[in-house]
Amino acid sequence: MKKGYKKPNLESKYYHELFESLPPLVGKTIVITGTTSGTGYTAAEACGKLGAKVVLLNRPSERATNSFEKLKETTSNGSFHSIDCDLQSFAAVRECIPKINELCSEGIDVLCNNAGVMALEDMPTGDGYDIQMQTNHLSHFLLTKLLWPLLEKAANEKGEARVVNHSSGARHSVKKLEPQFLEQKGGSLGGNGKSMFFGGGRWIRYGQTKLANAAYTAAMHEKLQNTGSKIKAIVAHPGLAETDLQHTTVKEGGLGRWFTAQFMKFGQSQEDGTMGILRGIADPSIESGTFIGPKGMKGLATTFKLEAKYDNPETREMIWKKSCEAVGEDFTIT
Ligand SMILES: NC(=O)c1ccc[n+]([C@@H]2O[C@H](COP(=O)([O-])OP(=O)(O)OC[C@H]3O[C@@H](n4cnc5c(N)ncnc54)[C@H](OP(=O)(O)O)[C@@H]3O)[C@@H](O)[C@H]2O)c1
Repeated sequence: MKKGYKKPNLESKYYHELFESLPPLVGKTIVITGTTSGTGYTAAEACGKLGAKVVLLNRPSERATNSFEKLKETTSNGSFHSIDCDLQSFAAVRECIPKINELCSEGIDVLCNNAGVMALEDMPTGDGYDIQMQTNHLSHFLLTKLLWPLLEKAANEKGEARVVNHSSGARHSVKKLEPQFLEQKGGSLGGNGKSMFFGGGRWIRYGQTKLANAAYTAAMHEKLQNTGSKIKAIVAHPGLAETDLQHTTVKEGGLGRWFTAQFMKFGQSQEDGTMGILRGIADPSIESGTFIGPKGMKGLATTFKLEAKYDNPETREMIWKKSCEAVGEDFTIT
């Protein structure tokens, strides 16, 4: 594997003010995927400081163990709990459910589907799906479906629960969500081209996954509105944030080291990039069907409406149907 890139070390401009404005989360149970680094780590740390019970879902690794230990050392009023969950495998997602059910029998206030990978090679998972689509969307779809009873419990008893998905500006890099990327065609979805701006296969697949995150939110929001549910469907994007995401992509051959070091100078800190999901998790003013993130690659995480590109009947129906087919489960919101 190649070396990563030299991070520019960007300073946080807005995060601390946002953090100070958030209410305590004492009594809340918050489940977050992908907390070994990046926005998931910072969101988990913030939720712990605000007093929540924070459940960390990560694939087993040294990074998972070390970040769990580090979070437990932060000055936290809440508590941290770690459960193995490899989003590359539907079986692994199913396996973690009994442990979450036992640990969170009081209900789940927030499920934050944060974990993600970017611009990896054209590779199938063991289940046969594109490695990026299964990690970034399909496994999160399954996880949400299987944790729905706990989200409903919290919503019914406390007045609301939330699903917060993590998309990207890369949702704009593809024209529309295409069904084939949600099918069992991993390894034959466009090859290993790594050109971000000229249609490299790695980047088209990433764009499809991030569009899927937004489309999934739109489809869920519509179903929730139709049933009068107290669960909220929310989506965020971090702009361009200095996490480990680009680092991993450089190591996996999807980005050049020099280019990434220069490009990242136009981004923002990991903390500032976390503001979108953190508002989605903890800001009382956020309604279902809201998108949260900076206007461009950096800046304050502001709210805006879901976009017609994916918030339309055809795309909403397609993503729900294809995702159910992929995970082999019906997901009916009643
Ligand atoms: N940073 C940006 O500029 C940017 C821009 C737009 C969108 N985003 C989105 O932000 C989200 C968070 O990414 P980040 O920027 O914080 O990157 P990051 O630092 O690389 O964090 C990604 C997290 O996802 C986890 N993950 C990857 N594969 C997984 C798997 N199979 N099972 C479970 N967890 C897995 C990683 O864990 P491991 O340690 O196991 O790899 C890590 O904890 C992603 O959805 C990404 O698409 C980021």
